[in-house]
Order: sequence, then C-alpha cells, then structure tokens
Amino acid sequence: MSDEIRVPPAWKRVDVSTLTGTIMIIGASDTGKSTFARYLFRRLVEYYPRVGLLDCDVGQSSLGLPTTLTLALSTSATEGKPAWNGRLAYFVGAISPRGHMLPVVVGAHKLQRRAQQWGVGAVVVDTTGLVDAAAGGGALKQWKIELLEPTTVFAFARGVELEHILWPWRRDPRVRVIELPVPRAVRERTRETRIRYRVERWKNYFSRADTLQLSLRQLAVFGLEAMTPGQLLALQDADGFALGLGVVRSYDPHTQAVAIYTPLPSLEDVSSIRLGTLRLNPATGREMY
Ligand SMILES: Nc1ncnc2c1ncn2[C@@H]1O[C@H](COP(=O)(O)OP(=O)(O)O)[C@@H](O)[C@H]1O
Ligand SMILES: [Mg+2]
Repeated sequence: MSDEIRVPPAWKRVDVSTLTGTIMIIGASDTGKSTFARYLFRRLVEYYPRVGLLDCDVGQSSLGLPTTLTLALSTSATEGKPAWNGRLAYFVGAISPRGHMLPVVVGAHKLQRRAQQWGVGAVVVDTTGLVDAAAGGGALKQWKIELLEPTTVFAFARGVELEHILWPWRRDPRVRVIELPVPRAVRERTRETRIRYRVERWKNYFSRADTLQLSLRQLAVFGLEAMTPGQLLALQDADGFALGLGVVRSYDPHTQAVAIYTPLPSLEDVSSIRLGTLRLNPATGREMY
C-alpha cells in the first residue's frame, strides 16, 4: 500500500472543522476507504490535540495485523506527519467479519471507549468492505452505526450497493451522511493480492518469534476446543486487549502444557488467551483453512 494520496476535489470540499466525535467510513472493497481514513486523520490532527484512527478491517488491516482491530492515536500536531503514540489491538480471530460479527462490533466498541477515555477529539473508524446484504454486511454496518453512534458517516459507493444501508440513516437526525464518489486513483486488488498482503504481514510478524512454554492451569482460555497445532491465538492483557498473537505448536491436555510460537518477549502480562478460527504456518505466512 503506497503512502501517496491523490486528493480528489470532493475531499478538499469536506469541511474538516465541523467533524467531531466518531466518524465512520463505509463502502465496498477497493473504494478508497482506508486511503480516505488516513487523509482525514492527517487533516483532523490540525484541529485536535489528539485524534484516533480505528482500523476495523480484519482482512486487509492497515494499522495492525489481520484478524485484529487496531486503534492508533496521534500525538500533537506540531509536524505535518503525525507520530503514533501507542496502539491497542483487539483480537477477532478471523480474516472476515462473516460469522464473527459479535467480536467485530464488541471489539470496535471497546476500542472506541478507550479512545474516548484517552481524550480524543475525533476518531476515524475505517471498516471492512463487507456491505452485501445477503452476507450480513447490511446488518453489520447498521448495528455498528447504532452502537458507535458516529456523528458523520462517509459513504463511498460505485452504484446502489450501499442503498440498503444508507437510506434510513439519511433521514435519521443522529448522523450526517456524506456521500463521496470513489476516487479515480483507486486500484482494485485481486483475491491473490489480498492473500499475498496477509502472507507478508504474517511472515514479517513471526520472523522474530520464538517458542514459549505455558501452563494453562492458572489462565483463562477462550475457545480451548480449538487448541491444536497451527491454530492462531491472541495473548491478552487484563482488559482483554491483544498483547500479541501466537501460533500453537503443541498442546498436552493432560498436563495442560502448551507451546506457543510468538514474538512476544514474555508471557508475564498475559491474563487470558483467545483462540481464533484461523490456522497459520508462521514460517511461510500461509493461512490454512
Ligand atoms: N486517493 C487515492 N490516491 C492514491 N491512491 C489511492 C487513492 N485511493 C485509493 N488508492 C489506492 O487504491 C487501493 C485501494 O484503496 P483503499 O483505500 O485501500 O481502499 P479500501 O480501503 O476501500 O479497500 C490502494 O492501493 C490505494 O493505495
Ligand atoms: Mg481498507
């Protein structure tokens, strides 16, 4: 993903000074959502001492790892390019919200609440491209808007694919819907490109990993039935946020000893483990289904 943003005239016309609170961006895949989210974040930093960017795309994550939601915060607006001041991740455990909508909306809400506690003036919420009504995309966006209560929803549509989501919100005084055309600079990505992107992210993440031994006797484990070699999991802090991810090497149900391959240097702060639905070869970055 290149950092070069071509700013269309329609983006320049957005009055950033009126944007506050939670700002959500919706649209199908490859409509320029993440690029616009980055652009908006950089603009908002000029107006607020602290701005959040919440990446809810568990497939083509831009801030954190695939399978996670990630919140990043800006520091001060002294320079053109905002510096990141810490990140927080929530593990969903899958690379699509299909079949995993509860952890997506719950995680997004937990991270939004953190952003608010940290005093952000605005938080930009980037979302997945799942908008298809038959696949549950309509329900996902509708309930996410209901829960996160954005003041503004930016919508990127090529045709009528967002109509089923947008039409009630256009008349609802709780939100302002701003519809923008899909930028001409958008490059569509094939399924292979998307898989390759994740493979690189995984390979890079696990390149510094090691095997750590752990006893499950004192630990909260969510989804123990999936504890088999190759399974992706999250090592979580006391608040349920992901400190890091790991892959199960081995598990002995009798001794409750588990070996986890993870770049996390220590398991000292781990309060709980959550198993995902994805299996992974950490050496090649290849996902197994
Ligand atoms: N305004 C823009 N200027 C330059 N490149 C863009 C712009 N909008 C999108 N792209 C490119 O198009 C591709 C898809 O855009 P992205 O923002 O990731 O879409 P989405 O998040 O909706 O899937 C990316 O490679 C991105 O760099
Ligand atoms: Mg995106």
